[in-house]
Amino acid sequence: MILEALEYATIPAPPWARRTGHLRELIAVEGRYRRHKAAWRPHLDNTKSTIMAAITRCKRRRTALVLGSGALYDIPLAPLAAHFDRVVLVDAAHPWRARAAALRFRNVAHVHADLSGVCDALLLGVAGGADTPPDPRISAIPNVAPDQVDLVVSANLMSQLPLVPSAFVARFLPLDAAAETRFARAILQAHLDFMHGFTGVTCLITDQTRETIDRDGETVHAKDALFGLDLPDPDREWIWDIAPLGEISRAEAVRNRVLAITTPAKDQQNTPSP
Ligand SMILES: C[S@@+](CC[C@H](N)C(=O)[O-])C[C@H]1O[C@@H](n2cnc3c(N)ncnc32)[C@H](O)[C@@H]1O
Repeated sequence: MILEALEYATIPAPPWARRTGHLRELIAVEGRYRRHKAAWRPHLDNTKSTIMAAITRCKRRRTALVLGSGALYDIPLAPLAAHFDRVVLVDAAHPWRARAAALRFRNVAHVHADLSGVCDALLLGVAGGADTPPDPRISAIPNVAPDQVDLVVSANLMSQLPLVPSAFVARFLPLDAAAETRFARAILQAHLDFMHGFTGVTCLITDQTRETIDRDGETVHAKDALFGLDLPDPDREWIWDIAPLGEISRAEAVRNRVLAITTPAKDQQNTPSP
C-alpha cells in the first residue's frame, strides 16, 4: 500500500493519465503482479515467447514499438534491444521498474501516449458537459516515424483500452448498455486500425474472454473482453490465471483466455510462392 502510494506520487506521468485514472490502474496491475507472480508466470512466458517469435519474422529491424509496455513483466526487453536499432515503449505512464530496466540499454526510449484516443476528449468534452461519448482519435506516437517501424507489439493492452474511459464516462453520462458497448467497441476497433496502419510485422496479444470459475474449476460466467469484436484466427492461445482464488473472492477465481495474432510485414503478405 505504502509502496503503491509512493509510486503514485513520484512516477512522471502526463496530467491526463492522472486525471482519468490510468495511473492508478497501472499501479494496481503492479500490485496484482506482486501478489500472483507464480500464477501469472506461464502467461508472462507465453507472451515473451510470442514476441520473440515475432522478432524472428522481421526482415528489417529498425524500430520496434511496444504498445502497453507497462512494468515490462511480459516484454523481452533485452532481445528487443539487441535485435532492433531502436525500441520505443509506449504507455500512459512508465513505472520505476520499467525506467530502471531501460537504463541498461542505450537504444530504448519511453514515450507517453494515449492509445485509446479518447482521453483528451473525456477531460475536455465529457467532463465539460458534452452529452455523447467521444469518437477515438489516436494521435501519431511522438518521435516515431511510422515507416521506420518494423515491429509493433500490442502487449496485453487491447482489452484494457476501454476500461478506464468507460468508467470515466459513466461518472458523467447515463449510457445504456448498447451505448456503452458501442463506445468500447469503437475504442477497440480504433486500436486494430492503428495497428493495421503500420507496414511492419504486427503482434497482437490480448485477452479475449474473462471467465469466472468456481472452486472445482467449473466456469460459472464468461464475458467477452472484446465486446463482440471479431479477430482473425489466432496463432496461439493460452490461459492467464489473472485472479486466483482469494484475489476477488474465496469462492471464485478469474482467468483470461489470451490469444496472439502475428501478421507479416505488408511487403511479405500475399507474396506468390516461387
Ligand atoms: C495489463 S497491462 C499490460 C502489461 C504490461 N505489458 C506489463 O508487462 O506490465 C495494460 C497496460 O496498458 C496500459 N494502458 C491502458 N490504457 C492505455 C491508454 N489509453 N494509453 C496508453 N496505455 C494504456 C496500462 O497503463 C498498462 O501498462
